[in-house]
Order: sequence, then structure tokens, then C-alpha cells
Amino acid sequence: MTDAASTIEDLTRVDAADVVALTAILDTLVRGDAAIGWTDPPVEQEVHELLTSLVVAGPENASVLVARDPALRIVGFGYWRRYARPTLRNNADLERLAVATEFDGHGIGRSLLRRLIGTARAAGCEQLTIDFRGDNHRAEQLYLSEGFTEYGRLPDFVAPDADRRFDKVFQVLDLRR
Ligand SMILES: CC(C)(COP(=O)(O)OP(=O)(O)OC[C@H]1O[C@@H](n2cnc3c(N)ncnc32)[C@H](O)[C@@H]1OP(=O)(O)O)[C@@H](O)C(=O)NCCC(=O)NCCS
Repeated sequence: MTDAASTIEDLTRVDAADVVALTAILDTLVRGDAAIGWTDPPVEQEVHELLTSLVVAGPENASVLVARDPALRIVGFGYWRRYARPTLRNNADLERLAVATEFDGHGIGRSLLRRLIGTARAAGCEQLTIDFRGDNHRAEQLYLSEGFTEYGRLPDFVAPDADRRFDKVFQVLDLRR
């Protein structure tokens, strides 16, 4: 269940304070080795451009949700985007889901995920894919428990640095059922 102290909403405009807060969250996560697609923490401009591209895409093509604390500061976010290739546009990819380290384990990740599944279904997406690093057992358990199934795994595919290799795991949720 979501922590009563947090609320989840669609991001419909990009606000400077949100960009600052989200950049700080991502900075801590990436420096702590969170596997969310960055080796170096993104700067504010990159976060601004990312959020803007998602908001501008519109609810048929992308969905970006944020979790806020009672002071309305962002404490987590997640988004999916439709595949760009015309033959794949019936499907979407859940590209990122992240919760501020200090809010871990309060149910915020699950609430964001459930809402993202709901917005993907409402947009008519047929299948929702996700991929993540093989050592991310927390994310793996979360996705499995919400109905995602594994359809593939590339051994030693992810190379966060010269010495380490991790599997890349692929899961999908069929929204037509
Ligand atoms: C993965 C992440 C989004 C989960 O968010 P969260 O708010 O901490 O998760 P929740 O509190 O909603 O817990 C959801 C489920 O995760 C799993 N989980 C949580 N902590 C776990 C742990 N220490 N070990 C294993 N599974 C765990 C459980 O299945 C849990 O469900 P349960 O509480 O009913 O048992 C968050 O940890 C995060 O931002 N991690 C860094 C970024 C990342 O890896 N994102 C996913 C890849 S894109």
C-alpha cells in the first residue's frame, strides 16, 4: 500500500522545482549504483529535457507519473513511452521507475507501477515491456508480483564499468488480458 504521506499524479507540466528535486534524487541513486540507465548522474538540463519530451508526447504516447510528499516535493517517478518504430507502436516500454532512497520500502514504487500500468492500458497499449539489470532483485520481485513475466535474459550484457558484467533481464505484461 502507498505510504499515506505520499500522493501520485500525472506530470502535465515541467516545473523548475520538480527538475531540481528529481535531479537530486537521481544523483543519489546513480552514485549509489542504481541501474537506471545512467553511469554518471544526469544534470538538470538532461532531466528537464527528458520530462519535457514525455509531457509533450501526450498521454497517448507516453505517461510520466510522480510521487510527492506532503510538501509536494517529488519523492519518486516513473514513465513509459510507446515504441517509435511503426510496427511496434501498439506497445510501450516502461523505461524508468525510481524512488528516492530515503523513501524505499514504503510502497511508492508499487503504486507508481500500478498507475503506469493503468495509464498504458487506458492509452490502448497492448504489451508493456521492461528491462533491468540482473542483480536488481527488488525490481524483479516488484514486476513479477504485478504480473510481468520474463521472456528473455542476456547473460553478462550490462557493463557498468570495466570489471563488472550483469545479465539484462526482459519482462512483459500483456495488457490485452
Ligand atoms: C525498485 C524501486 C522502484 C522499488 O520502489 P519501492 O518504493 O522501494 O518499492 P515498494 O516499497 O513499493 O516495494 C515493492 C516491492 O519491491 C520488492 N522489494 C522491496 N524491497 C525489497 C528488498 N529489499 N529485497 C527484495 N525485494 C524487495 C518487494 O516485492 C516489494 O513488495 P512487498 O513490500 O509487497 O514485499 C526502488 O527500490 C528504486 O527506485 N530503486 C532504484 C532504481 C531502480 O532500480 N529502478 C528499477 C529499474 S528501472
